[in-house]
Amino acid sequence: MIYPIVKLGDPVLEKPAETVTIFDDELKQLIEDMFESMYAAHGIGLAAPQIGISRRIAVVDVTFKEDPNAKVVLINPEITHMEGRQSQSEGCLSIPDFRENVARALRVTVRAQNVNGKWQEHTGEDLLARAFQHETDHLNGKLYIHRISALKRDLIKRKVRKLAKAGEW
Ligand code: NI
Repeated sequence: MIYPIVKLGDPVLEKPAETVTIFDDELKQLIEDMFESMYAAHGIGLAAPQIGISRRIAVVDVTFKEDPNAKVVLINPEITHMEGRQSQSEGCLSIPDFRENVARALRVTVRAQNVNGKWQEHTGEDLLARAFQHETDHLNGKLYIHRISALKRDLIKRKVRKLAKAGEW
């Protein structure tokens, strides 16, 4: 099932998500649905709050279906190591049509549970490291606009309010 994507302004995006404790068939189905919803929205990462579900689950595929082995499921993720620095243009499915340069670590290690509850470590750099940081942020109620200047953030928020007023958000 394809879920609609929740947009900036919905409080679910800005509150910390709940820890996952039950690893059952319902969770497996939700993760499948999250990949399906992410691809349908042309994204390379999706966190559960973005479909209105406040649970610590994210999916990532920086190859966008090219490589089935590139699909990453992150449940209850914690970034355990960060190094280096990159600054690249970044967007978010919940803030469509906006992009800003965001400073991130270049290389990160994230510890997360898989669909069966097993703890695993994933290391990524460049775009993958960016995706791990962006999605983990989502689960902490943080968006990329919280990592740019207040001036740029207010500008985006003002434009979004205008779009919402016009019924275009
Ligand atoms: Ni996002």
